[in-house]
Amino acid sequence: MLVAGVALIAVACASTTRFDGPGGDRRLYRARCGLCHVPFAPGDFHPDDWPDLVAEMGPRAGLGAAYRERILNYLVTESEGAWARR
Ligand code: HEC
Repeated sequence: MLVAGVALIAVACASTTRFDGPGGDRRLYRARCGLCHVPFAPGDFHPDDWPDLVAEMGPRAGLGAAYRERILNYLVTESEGAWARR
């Protein structure tokens, strides 16, 4: 019983920490925004376009406020880099 409980806690922790650490925002974006279509490259859209796109798509992906904020930050930051290199 105790072993089963510990195993359950380990599984629960793994599922909440898999978007932590280096690359976590990218994994989060690809997991949640790649459900219905291939996740767009951040540079496919201008940094100024992402807030509206995430506002529209966030509810479809069932995102809470924290995840929506992380995904938006990731997309805007990466898009700014891509557009600066053009
Ligand atoms: C439930 C399915 C679903 C999920 C989840 C989803 N999308 Fe979409 N997405 C669509 C569909 C369908 C379209 C086609 C255009 C439309 O219906 O608005 C689309 C189109 C897009 C487009 C293209 C818009 C354009 O103007 O060409 C972008 C960018 C996009 N999604 C980003 C995202 C992001 C970012 C997320 C995560 C927050 C996400 N999507 C999650 C279904 C989804």
